Amino acid sequence: MSVLESMRSFMRRDQVFEFLIPDTPPDLDLTHGVILYLEEISVSFDGFKAIDDLNLYIDDGELRCIIGPNGAGKTTMMDIITGKTRPDSGSAWFGQQINLLKMDEPEIAAAGIGRKFQKPTVFEHHAVIENLELAMAGDKRVWTTLNARLSGEQRDHMDEILHIIGLNKQSANLAGSLSHGQKQWLEIGMLLMQNPKLLLVDEPAAGMTHQEMERTAELLTSLAGTHSIIVVEHDMDFVRSIAQKVTVLHQGGVLAEGTMDEVQNNQRVIEVYLGE
Ligand SMILES: Nc1ncnc2c1ncn2[C@@H]1O[C@H](COP(=O)(O)OP(=O)(O)OP(=O)(O)O)[C@@H](O)[C@H]1O
Ligand SMILES: [Mg+2]
Repeated sequence: MSVLESMRSFMRRDQVFEFLIPDTPPDLDLTHGVILYLEEISVSFDGFKAIDDLNLYIDDGELRCIIGPNGAGKTTMMDIITGKTRPDSGSAWFGQQINLLKMDEPEIAAAGIGRKFQKPTVFEHHAVIENLELAMAGDKRVWTTLNARLSGEQRDHMDEILHIIGLNKQSANLAGSLSHGQKQWLEIGMLLMQNPKLLLVDEPAAGMTHQEMERTAELLTSLAGTHSIIVVEHDMDFVRSIAQKVTVLHQGGVLAEGTMDEVQNNQRVIEVYLGE
């Protein structure tokens, strides 16, 4: 290679020297069909054990519902998966190879774990479609897209997601003009723009009309299979409408696990809910 050629290749913006590439986690290894392993996890806040020897396994493509009384540790569990809270002990693996406890929040998000908080956080003064573009820009590989034209592939991806979240007719409307339920779906769409493998959804049905809940149930059910989803929810009718396997958390650990009927007929579960 001539000096000029090597200068040119140095200047090419799509080529980066090895030492400039941040450590990326290994690819998601799903050879055992399990996407998430939480083992013997404990965490205390000021001496109070919010999570106490928690063991939870989520299969690739499954939709898992997590229920449990207030303070059971559901949100804390999501905080641990996403790197917001570090456990005092235990292990957390994403697939076979990715050790979540060695990563920070942005690294975990980039590895393919998306989280939807209860309150929708859409950009109200931007159109629905712009919200999706902004979400895509969160992905560093395409972060210049806003100033450039979207590739055909990206445009297709966006159309596909608009369709999935049922907002194709509203794509040019301001996000601020959407109903509460539509904002929730838009936020799910924004998560999907980043191609997560595992989605964590905290209380999606809260504040929704009955119709919106039905639509949300359909949406989450349609995403299962191609995604793994953990849904935390208090509304039992909603849980029943989407439930495959249900885990009951209580005092930071798993109290029961099974079908909705199994857990609802479990004596220990009944006692915990009656005692509330
Ligand atoms: N950062 C923190 N500092 C101190 N205590 C905390 C912290 N986060 C959670 N806790 C406590 O840990 C326990 C579990 O809380 P968590 O929010 O995980 O429960 P939850 O199952 O999500 O409840 P809810 O159904 O009400 O949302 C509660 O007693 C809570 O007060
Ligand atoms: Mg909570």
